Amino acid sequence: MAQRRVLIAGNWKMHGMKADLDWIAKFAALVSAPSGEVAVCPPVTLLDAFAAPLASHAIALGGQDCSPEASGAFTGDISAAMLADIGCTYVIVGHSERRDGHGETSALVRRKAEAVIAAGLVPIICVGEHLAEREAGRAVETVLDQLAHSLPEAGAADLVIAYEPVWAIGTGRTAGPEEAQQMHTAIRAAFPGSDRHLLRILYGGSVKPDNAASLLACPDIDGALVGGASLDPHQFAEIVNLAS
Ligand code: PGA
Repeated sequence: MAQRRVLIAGNWKMHGMKADLDWIAKFAALVSAPSGEVAVCPPVTLLDAFAAPLASHAIALGGQDCSPEASGAFTGDISAAMLADIGCTYVIVGHSERRDGHGETSALVRRKAEAVIAAGLVPIICVGEHLAEREAGRAVETVLDQLAHSLPEAGAADLVIAYEPVWAIGTGRTAGPEEAQQMHTAIRAAFPGSDRHLLRILYGGSVKPDNAASLLACPDIDGALVGGASLDPHQFAEIVNLAS
């Protein structure tokens, strides 16, 4: 039986100010010794302030995106090495809000994932279909195509996949546990290499305390990427406690 450590990651997106530093103490007071791993991906402006307090509670720090480039004249961009320097363990790449809102292709996502690995960090590579693709019966095909073109060419010692159906993100709609499990099975089966049983596949898209238990009970769901509910320390702690 594969040993995969559950990961619950909070994606704060473009939310959070310095005044939200007390989120960490509030959250830490509500969680009961999680057996899995917890990560928080605040906006880049808060990474430095969050690094030490999160580390003191054994919570990993993550970035929400990075440049595919190592360094250079790229105004406004942040390299994976900079995220490593500030204390990150994880970097989300290929989130649908980057793919759709910033025209990021799977080829670019692959380069970003490779940059993350080169910096010694772990990429959380997001994939997910739009509603029209699901309704046309092409959800699995779409996601597996994204996966094939987003994975680092040379493989990786450690990477995480997040399946996030676009129609479930921030909408209050989630994939049912059966729908999600089916996709996770397909992703695992398609993952190249013999260690696919060790691959952690997170589900994301309107994960809340009231639906987390049934999703996390699925054999191929190894954690969650939580957006809106991660901003509330009570809701995020409830999800983490359900995963333990
Ligand atoms: P949500 O976001 O939980 O607010 O739907 C998830 C995500 O986009 O990672």
